Amino acid sequence: MIELKNVCKTYETGNKAIRNINLNIRDGEFVFIVGKSGSGKSTLFKLLTRELKATSGEIIVNGCDLNKIKRRNIPKYRRTLGVVFQDFRLLYDRNVFENVAFAQRVIGASGSEIKRNVPEMLKLTGLGAKYKSYPNHLSGGEQQRVAIARALINHPQVLLADEPTGNLDSYNTHEIMRLLETVNSMGTTVIVITHSKEMVSEMKKRVITMDKGLIVSDEYPEKKPVSVMPVMGNSRSRGKSRRRPENTDDRI
Ligand SMILES: Nc1ncnc2c1ncn2[C@@H]1O[C@H](COP(=O)(O)OP(=O)(O)OP(=O)(O)O)[C@@H](O)[C@H]1O
Ligand SMILES: [Mg+2]
Repeated sequence: MIELKNVCKTYETGNKAIRNINLNIRDGEFVFIVGKSGSGKSTLFKLLTRELKATSGEIIVNGCDLNKIKRRNIPKYRRTLGVVFQDFRLLYDRNVFENVAFAQRVIGASGSEIKRNVPEMLKLTGLGAKYKSYPNHLSGGEQQRVAIARALINHPQVLLADEPTGNLDSYNTHEIMRLLETVNSMGTTVIVITHSKEMVSEMKKRVITMDKGLIVSDEYPEKKPVSVMPVMGNSRSRGKSRRRPENTDDRI
């Protein structure tokens, strides 16, 4: 569970990037964060990774209060997250296998665990045949899949991605989104910042829109229409019964 209560972030320049955000994201949700350039999306992302500290308010991620967390515990907190960036941030002098294995070594996994886990993750991300390739010999979509494999290898509870498809064509964007959906269906909470309107409308997930440091809308995908029993009587009563599914909405 991710909870933000009255969160504000003002940069040292005086720039109020996040002005008052209240937000709950439940375990296992898939959430898009959209909004104009400069609306505060990456700032929110950095607050969640604890790269930045909120100026005021409370951010609690899986029970961890990010304003109170001790500096020495931040790496441990970050290991509960998988993080993916627009520019991949791979190790260009290491092959695909080593890029993913590196994240396992950091947490002290044994050689045999790495030999078992990395090929499994490469298979899930569609990179099984590319394990020996170096990032420079991969397409943008493949590089992003390596970044996602690396982010997922330690089974994070939450996957955070800041414009993971910003540098990709529409075919690769589609492939990455499908991969994120698969990861989500396996139980990981997925939070994706994107500018891709096409993907947002196609994926039918919760969409949080930011503007000038505020959340200006938080929309859930439309439910499939509930079949409405044939209604007898005048048009007024018909109107009322048609509205009911919306009124008894169980969204949070
Ligand atoms: N390090 C910084 N110091 C001061 N101001 C900053 C800093 N980083 C971002 N800002 C400002 O904070 C505001 C929000 O920036 P942020 O990077 O969060 O926007 P964004 O929604 O991610 O935009 P984009 O879609 O262009 O990536 C902007 O006005 C930006 O200029
Ligand atoms: Mg940004």
